[in-house]
Amino acid sequence: MTHPVIVITGASRGIGRAVAEICLKTFNANVLAIARTESDLNALKAYAEKELNTNERVETVVGDVTEERVIDDAVDKCLKRWGRIDGLVINAGVLEPMATIADVNVGEWRQSKSALNMLIRCLAVEEPDIVAISISPGIVDTDMVTFIRTDGSKVMNEQDHKWFVDVHASNQILSPEDPSHVIAALVVGGAKKEHSGEFYNWDVEAFAGFMRKK
Ligand SMILES: NC(=O)c1ccc[n+]([C@@H]2O[C@H](COP(=O)([O-])OP(=O)(O)OC[C@H]3O[C@@H](n4cnc5c(N)ncnc54)[C@H](OP(=O)(O)O)[C@@H]3O)[C@@H](O)[C@H]2O)c1
Repeated sequence: MTHPVIVITGASRGIGRAVAEICLKTFNANVLAIARTESDLNALKAYAEKELNTNERVETVVGDVTEERVIDDAVDKCLKRWGRIDGLVINAGVLEPMATIADVNVGEWRQSKSALNMLIRCLAVEEPDIVAISISPGIVDTDMVTFIRTDGSKVMNEQDHKWFVDVHASNQILSPEDPSHVIAALVVGGAKKEHSGEFYNWDVEAFAGFMRKK
């Protein structure tokens, strides 16, 4: 496959942006990037033009992934431009409103997590041609985690907030490129049938060959 076609939600910043850049540059993929902030998506296009000398390898859809129109647009654009879709990274997510467990609806929170895991399991069983896996990226240095450090003390208990501050201060926080390299390698073809339907930490032994070389 010369240019795998990969759709990435939340590709404007953080982990999604790093996955997009690695797919483009390291794995020679064509990328359709979705996010709500047009200027950030334009910055990804500019990255591709600068690094790859082409404006043919990135398409964007500006919008909220919870809107069906946005997903339909993404599929249409991929099919018109490249004729197929080979992989999808469902990455878009938000932290806000940040709240204590006591203040959020824990039932809904649990349901959303188990719904995602169930979706992955069902896809693996019902769509044997698709490899569907769920990846935990670790604690990654993105806007989301910066926000926890700067504003988390308003709602988190002191010990939990301190843990995030300490992870950063002691340089244990991951660079987005580390888990993103594994995610990119998996979505462009590294994910195999035996992985399907499962949940993995990004740095499990099975994915050692997909780690970023430093
Ligand atoms: N960072 C961590 O340590 C960590 C740990 C575990 C899991 N995660 C998960 O990894 C994913 C990425 O996290 P991150 O740290 O990279 O977050 P981030 O820096 O806040 O980036 C989130 C991305 O998602 C996009 N996005 C958010 N809501 C969207 C929506 N409704 N429609 C379209 N795009 C949307 C944002 O772009 P726009 O605002 O422009 O739309 C942005 O590109 C999230 O699902 C998060 O829960 C992160």
